[in-house]
Amino acid sequence: MKNKKIQLKILNASDVSIKYLKWLNNSNIMKFTAQAGKRHSLSSVKKFVKEKRDSKIEYLYGIYIFNDIKKIKEHIGNIKLGPINKRNLTADVSYIIGEKKYWNKGYATQAVKEITILAKKKFKLKKLQAGHQKINSASSKVLTRNKFKLEGIFKSQIKIGKNKRTDRYVYGLIL
Ligand SMILES: CC(C)(COP(=O)(O)OP(=O)(O)OC[C@H]1O[C@@H](n2cnc3c(N)ncnc32)[C@H](O)[C@@H]1OP(=O)(O)O)[C@@H](O)C(=O)NCCC(=O)NCCS
Repeated sequence: MKNKKIQLKILNASDVSIKYLKWLNNSNIMKFTAQAGKRHSLSSVKKFVKEKRDSKIEYLYGIYIFNDIKKIKEHIGNIKLGPINKRNLTADVSYIIGEKKYWNKGYATQAVKEITILAKKKFKLKKLQAGHQKINSASSKVLTRNKFKLEGIFKSQIKIGKNKRTDRYVYGLIL
């Protein structure tokens, strides 16, 4: 597995850029996510980020890399831990790499690896869960490379078009 250098940082409303907004409104990027077909605005994304910032059960991290050419830290995607179930010490994990030019370079795999460590060490969680649409093989690879195990296939769980549905693959990782 490529070990990519990334940094995870809790997002603030001030981190919401036009670039970030464009990821969310890009149907090609978002097609396998729950955001598919939704329209976002700068103010709606800032509101979302602020809600997460204020939440005690959902933690939204930006995925940052150091761009050697521009000599700046670049925001390339997000990873969310939560909602956390404080009784059961479990949480969901979800992620996007919003810049397509950075796909297939190991960044999501590394982000999941780092969130797994945070979940165990900082949040003292005992189990994580994550899922993807049947067709999202890249996401499957990200999870299985981080030792998540497929726990179930929820048949016809997700509506993907007017008359189309697909299965949801759900994975778990015991920490
Ligand atoms: C899914 C996603 C997060 C993967 O991020 P990423 O940084 O490209 O993932 P990684 O590079 O760590 O790993 C992806 C792996 O899947 C492989 N892959 C990509 N497309 C694939 C396909 N169609 N079939 C099989 N494998 C595929 C890649 O080659 C890579 O494996 P490799 O390192 O052995 O070459 C990213 O594509 C993305 O953000 N997509 C849009 C949003 C989304 O779908 N989020 C997840 C919702 S569950």
